[in-house]
Amino acid sequence: MNRAKLDSIRNAGPAILPSVLNCDFGDLMAEVDRLRQAGAEILHLDVMDGHFVPNLTFGMPIVEGLRRHTDMPLDVHLMISDPLAYAKPMVEAGADLLTFHIEAVSDPVDVANKIRDLGVGVGVAINPATPLSSLDVCLDCVDMVLVMSVQAGFGGQSFNPVALDRIRELRSRYPDLLLEIDGGINTETIGPAREAGCDLFVVGSAIISSDDYTAAVSELSDAMMSANGGAR
Ligand code: DX5
Ligand code: ZN
Repeated sequence: MNRAKLDSIRNAGPAILPSVLNCDFGDLMAEVDRLRQAGAEILHLDVMDGHFVPNLTFGMPIVEGLRRHTDMPLDVHLMISDPLAYAKPMVEAGADLLTFHIEAVSDPVDVANKIRDLGVGVGVAINPATPLSSLDVCLDCVDMVLVMSVQAGFGGQSFNPVALDRIRELRSRYPDLLLEIDGGINTETIGPAREAGCDLFVVGSAIISSDDYTAAVSELSDAMMSANGGAR
């Protein structure tokens, strides 16, 4: 179905992925257009169920509406208790890369394989407090690891540097694995994250709280590109 988009996501790295979590949902399509014009190539969509995390966002209708509106690949971050219950509808709605949380599932290999069988890329996300070793069982079954640099649930939190050690360790063990970081990424933290070996950088408030998305993306991009990302 959409696995070709996984290659375009992989080839885009290093890349900044705006999260629409804190944007103006009353003007969502214009927000997406502004992000596109600012240089975004991939959108990060935060799906929350009010159960796995104490916050509630949106589901398939918004993903489907965005799919009709833009050709940007859609990177869907599922912060939900039962990812398999919504994986197929999310793929039908237009997700290209579907990421579940390791903390939410008892059999991550089964979840990863079932998502992959839907024809999309599959990612596994890990919160800062969860031992990195809990990912070991499924690292051969996923296309991407999303290393959270905040506890999943809300935008605007401070960066937790434990994520840098995790990116470094995953990068040294898995030179070709796609690595994404999410939470508290700004012009100060994006460089160290790239130096640690990260490919994809999710950015919410550092773009959305700016009056000028183009300037914000360009400053982030400068900080990202001036860091040495060759250490792998
Ligand atoms: C938080 C979400 C993030 C959020 C990041 O749980 O997964 O994608 O939008 O926002 P900032 O960049 O503000 O930390
Ligand atoms: Zn996210």
